[in-house]
Amino acid sequence: MKPKALAALLAASLLLLPLEGGARADAAPEVSYDHYSLKIDGRRVLVQSAEVHYFRLPSPDLWRDVLEKLKAGGFNAISVYFDWAYHSPKPGVYDFTGVRDVDRFLRTAERAGLYVIARPGPYINAETTGGGFPAWLKNVPGRARTSAPGYTEAYRDWLHHIDPIIARHQVGHGGSVILYNAENEYAVSTDAAYMQDIQDQARADGIDVPITTNDCCDAGSWSSTWATGPGAVQVPGVDDYPQSFDCANAETTWGPWGEGVTERLRDDSPAFAAEYQGGAIDSGDAGYDRCRELTGPAFMKFFYKSNLLVSGATLFNYYMGYGGTNWGWLAQPNDVYSSYDYGAAITEARQLTPKYDEFKRQGYFLQAVAPLTMTDPATAPVTDDAAVQAPARANPETHTQFALVRHADRAATTTDTATLTWTLPDGTYSLPVQVAGHDAHVLVGGYDLGGQRLAASSSEILTHAYIGGRDVAVLYGTEGSPGATILRYASRPQVRVLSGDVRFSYSPGGDLRLEYTHSGLARVLVSGGGRRPLLLLLGTDATAAQFWRADSAGGPVLVRGTSLVRSAEVSGGTVRLAADTAKAGEVEVFGPAGAARLVVGGAGVPVSRTPSGSLLGRVPGPREVHLPALVGWRAHAESPEAAPGFDDSAWKAADRTTTESPLKPAAPPVLYADDYGFHYGDVWYRGRFTATGAETGVSLNAITGKRGNYLVWLNGRYLGAAAGGVEADADGPNPAPGPGHFAVPSGLLKPGQTATIAVLVQNMGHNDDWTADDNRFKQPRGLVAASVDGSTAPIS
Ligand code: GAL
Repeated sequence: MKPKALAALLAASLLLLPLEGGARADAAPEVSYDHYSLKIDGRRVLVQSAEVHYFRLPSPDLWRDVLEKLKAGGFNAISVYFDWAYHSPKPGVYDFTGVRDVDRFLRTAERAGLYVIARPGPYINAETTGGGFPAWLKNVPGRARTSAPGYTEAYRDWLHHIDPIIARHQVGHGGSVILYNAENEYAVSTDAAYMQDIQDQARADGIDVPITTNDCCDAGSWSSTWATGPGAVQVPGVDDYPQSFDCANAETTWGPWGEGVTERLRDDSPAFAAEYQGGAIDSGDAGYDRCRELTGPAFMKFFYKSNLLVSGATLFNYYMGYGGTNWGWLAQPNDVYSSYDYGAAITEARQLTPKYDEFKRQGYFLQAVAPLTMTDPATAPVTDDAAVQAPARANPETHTQFALVRHADRAATTTDTATLTWTLPDGTYSLPVQVAGHDAHVLVGGYDLGGQRLAASSSEILTHAYIGGRDVAVLYGTEGSPGATILRYASRPQVRVLSGDVRFSYSPGGDLRLEYTHSGLARVLVSGGGRRPLLLLLGTDATAAQFWRADSAGGPVLVRGTSLVRSAEVSGGTVRLAADTAKAGEVEVFGPAGAARLVVGGAGVPVSRTPSGSLLGRVPGPREVHLPALVGWRAHAESPEAAPGFDDSAWKAADRTTTESPLKPAAPPVLYADDYGFHYGDVWYRGRFTATGAETGVSLNAITGKRGNYLVWLNGRYLGAAAGGVEADADGPNPAPGPGHFAVPSGLLKPGQTATIAVLVQNMGHNDDWTADDNRFKQPRGLVAASVDGSTAPIS
């Protein structure tokens, strides 16, 4: 680039850089930030994001399904890698159509009401083949993930294709992208000029949202250490996988990789859990259900809630929300296989799991209770049992407080009860609390809950909304545990316990104290007392998870029952739900005043009005599905390429003598598939030599990635198969890790005749480049050596 063009580019990017404290110098202040949180159009937002990869769900119609499920589960954002390799089959060629139509994906996210954290790499890792690098990049000179000219030209071209698509979907341009992630865990062998250039290119391409990066390994390298140097980002985030990937030992594993508390990397931007463990890769082949156990509700309750209250982070992204499938040679083969289910909250087959319920309980809370977006550490309530602790935070403006009730020793497995003495804005309160091993509760005090004043509660808040002229609040606690909730009223309110066993008392000081044991779903109606009415629903983990909240244009709607509520519409006294039902059962709707009819999935549902003021009906289960009989089978003989007479005259000759691979062949020619443009899937080789009849064997070596095999034929006779190599050791003792020796059957080869070897090599995908040094990523795929034992004849 000419110096003048560079200067113009820098000027353009400087204009968009935020000033101190997140104020921006340009005219589009849609996303700003400060020490506490992101602000979107000036409003503080708590970002609860799920990682999802469009490329792992190759059906644009199903994108909507998964995104709606995430939204319904309490997420307000997704984080998305854009996989360069998936879009670029060869240099200069890009495909953004069909299953690669990221514009459509981003539109679908917008419509589902989800913000987007865009992560276009160029390097993404993600257990994708090449870590997102196209395999053709293996043939490009210059070390990847540095400022080397060959690599620079390649990645800039990618960014100039993907950035403009992301740019037109930013908040402030009619879309929902709120952050742009440069690179990925760029922590070793780093090059600051490269890290800066990604950001400069993004700005030049129209990216105006804050730039982030996901630091790993407590490196903090693009924020604290070099905060003012080249490469530093505005809102640095941290990756944390405290529960490890040891799916085989799910029952006994408890946070071996630390407390999982998101580090704050800059004082002028919010703490950001850029990738927080939401599942696990299954490198030990335990099966993803075991990974789901490893990272199940207990882990989520303890670690996610601890992180919320200890770190004060307001940006969370859980990796993965939905994992999907490594179809079409998408996997980096050494860590994963064809499923990327990940033990996530939504399974590969798009089914909801108990982890989804826990995300919903936490996500609804995070979205409903706004003071969480701005908190500082506060004085902890006093507990009368040293086994139980309750670190606290407070909002400096509203003075709302949050306490985390958990065991002091995170390994504890006992159930302990204690009394908390908590000094809050409305007074000092005693609360009974009970915490089981590996559990944690976030309690709220001094909170304006809609039109109510919640002084304190030992129940957790699921959600609350102003519905039908009253506040409706759903609180919950562990089945069988004691609960107390204190609300403030200017005068004695009327209290009607509609169901459940709830005792109450009113003190002249203004406190209405409700006491109960969490069990089923108790219902209490409070009216008068100088406030608008309140319907309090007191549930358990299980009954809380039955609720769905849909914020329609006609106001919020709460639904109890059905397997999923995607959205609600209210008009002319009718509530219309887009809901899924897995079995027949009750549906109860808390909707706007005047709503008297219910339509679920297009069908009218007869309803009656309950004493709680809700509509109650029954929905039928799904219709039975009948699979069609499979008929009209056809067959085709396999592997014609193995036959000696197969016409390979149009095939490429393997005649190259040099390669960009760090692994140089012991003898020419280079046989690596990538060097001839064959980058993915199975590759056939055919070789010929003149036989003498003295040949005893064929010796081959191939590198395929884990679980790859290669199959060998000689003159059309199948000789057998061998496992391909996984990691070659370019400078070390093992440059050819996939040996196979195949005996030549006697009499197969005739002196003076041409013999044909045919080899089918499975390429399982390419290594990643986590170490940013080319050594792994540029390792070959395909044959690395071939010889015939007992023969000196050249093989062509
Ligand atoms: C992170 C990385 C992700 C993914 C994850 C493990 O370190 O940033 O891309 O590889 O680990 O699944």
